[in-house]
Amino acid sequence: MPKLRIEGGNSLCGVIDIQGAKNSILPIMAATLVADGECIIENCPDISDTHTALEILRTLGALVKHRGRTVYVDCRNVIDYEIPDALMRKMRSSVIFLGALLTRHRKAVISFPGGCELGPRPIDLHLSALEKMGVTIREEFGSLYCTCPRLVGCEIPLSFPSVGATENIMLAAVRAKGVTVITNAAREPEIEDLQNFLNEMGADVCGAGSSTVIVRGVDSLAGCSHRVIPDRIVTATYLCAVAATRGNALLRKTCPRHNAALLSALRQCGCEIEAQEDYLRIACDALFSARRIRTMPYPGFPTDAQAPFMGLMCVAKGSTVFVETIFENRYKHISELQRMGARITPEGRVAVVEGVPRLHGASVCATDLRGGAALMIAALAADGISEITDIYHIDRGYERPEWVLSQLGARISRIE
Ligand code: EPZ
Repeated sequence: MPKLRIEGGNSLCGVIDIQGAKNSILPIMAATLVADGECIIENCPDISDTHTALEILRTLGALVKHRGRTVYVDCRNVIDYEIPDALMRKMRSSVIFLGALLTRHRKAVISFPGGCELGPRPIDLHLSALEKMGVTIREEFGSLYCTCPRLVGCEIPLSFPSVGATENIMLAAVRAKGVTVITNAAREPEIEDLQNFLNEMGADVCGAGSSTVIVRGVDSLAGCSHRVIPDRIVTATYLCAVAATRGNALLRKTCPRHNAALLSALRQCGCEIEAQEDYLRIACDALFSARRIRTMPYPGFPTDAQAPFMGLMCVAKGSTVFVETIFENRYKHISELQRMGARITPEGRVAVVEGVPRLHGASVCATDLRGGAALMIAALAADGISEITDIYHIDRGYERPEWVLSQLGARISRIE
């Protein structure tokens, strides 16, 4: 079982480039299904979730090739409409293929998505929206059989600004009959990136980034070229790693305006941050607690940054109260952080972190993608050696973290 071995205690200094966004490339990969032509996607992160998405497309019959971080996808020969259960289980966000498959085939078969380390991951908002658009959904033996004579646009008020549901509706609406208006839509930058990708194909989508997204159905969509936005959560993770080690670094090829809430929290904790169009500089000498962190839908503090930021607050001066409002069970990393000497008291959706002067190295186990990132941050700040197992969680969203962190002087290695 591969693991990461980290010798903590030295300050991270240097320059790194930020990868493309995992949570952008996944819906964009699904969107290639609605195009009648080849799509060229640049800045594709080399992570296991990308590989899984490409495997799903190949399984459906798409022609896929990639050179470095550019992926070429041609779905003109796709005739299949069923995603194998094994692939659905590999990545919960596979549900994002549903809307695009219905646009292409007017039918789709998927099993209930897996990968739910964060508590129950229902898809009721996705399914009720698709039913409003004319889809008939039958559940049998854990699979969903979806058919529709014609997707028809309509008003879809979301009870919660679900990222995945917003994306699935957009993908079902792009070639539907009439207009679809999504209200209380998710406002994440990845929604805007998907809108831009679809419009580059010839779609008519507007409003992404606001709470109301309007999609006017068109008859056909062509292939296109697109560059994926930088990953704002990977940016957040490495900012926390530098701050936790009292370091000084330059992060290039990122998009600071996507991280406003996080940057505000880091500045409140005593970090000096210079933010320009596509790079960030961070320096941290003394680290204070953020006092209160409440995760919210974008543009609030991102739930995906909660665990990495908690890793940072473990070594801040003072106490921080975390309130996780998005997911029910997103504190699994706490018990592993406690093994390193962290003082954290979880209570339902609240967790109180009392900063300590030093953590100590330990053998710990990644519990999920962002929980694993929290352990990397804590290990880099700790005295002594740590080993992190189950790093397949981390590899889902971080491209070669040991290589990137080594660029900043971290003493880290991957042991196969
Ligand atoms: C996306 O997940 C991201 N994943 C998540 O990132 C991120 O944490 C999340 O949005 C919130 O920002 C991708 O984009 C691939 P949601 P998604 O639908 O779409 C409830 C990471 O670490 N809900 O906005 O699944 C749901 O249970 C991952 O990169 C319903 O109740 O998130 C959750 O409590 C983790 N019914 C909340 O809404 C539904 O039909 C947010 O879910 C859908 C969601």
